[in-house]
Amino acid sequence: MRFAIISDIHSNLHALTAVLEEVDRLKPDSIFSLGDLVGYNAFPSEVLDVLFQNKITSIMGNHDIVCCGLENPIWFNAVAREASLWTRKRLSEEKKRYLCKLPNEKAIHDRIYAVHGSPMSRDDYIMDLMDALNCFQHLPDKSIRICLYGHTHLPAIYSDQGPSHDTAHAGKHLLATRNRYFINPGSVGQPRDGDNRASGCLVDDGEDGRIEYDVTAAMKSVLKAGLPHFLAERLQVGA
Ligand SMILES: [Fe+2]
Repeated sequence: MRFAIISDIHSNLHALTAVLEEVDRLKPDSIFSLGDLVGYNAFPSEVLDVLFQNKITSIMGNHDIVCCGLENPIWFNAVAREASLWTRKRLSEEKKRYLCKLPNEKAIHDRIYAVHGSPMSRDDYIMDLMDALNCFQHLPDKSIRICLYGHTHLPAIYSDQGPSHDTAHAGKHLLATRNRYFINPGSVGQPRDGDNRASGCLVDDGEDGRIEYDVTAAMKSVLKAGLPHFLAERLQVGA
């Protein structure tokens, strides 16, 4: 399965349109948003229309919950507060109801989980490896291999195997089958990593570069051929 993951669209219709054109080209099995659909930019209602038209599901971001009126922007800075109150006035009651009903977090596939900020709170920021390592234990299920998150507007990959497996930049990354990850696709509508291009990611849970095969049969063939036992044994352990 291939999932296009987008986050922090923040009412940026221009960025979302460009991202969806690219998604269309990549033809994933589904598209999922990690929240903050609205706030900051100029097209909240239009962005929601595009999401509805494309049947893109989402979880709730900290701006969504304020813009729909469930919370007030008491913790927002002045600019975010002004934009959230502006957004509230431009959303229909129906669209506010839609935002109000967004789930806080969601399992989007077998062993792939989605949160906005962190597994503890939509307002938390996972900014570095230490933050990510602390969050693994708060995932609702130990079998979760990939936790997708947004909120920081910074693309990142953090592995439970430590710094040598971390990347915090764009590109293609092979995920090791044995490792667990926190992955941030970056922001569609308000990137904050010094690159003004819209950001997103494609998660392919079948493209980790490792393919299972009948190891036992291969081992038996080695033994049947009279080759050293060691050659069969090393197939079993992969070393
Ligand atoms: Fe955001």
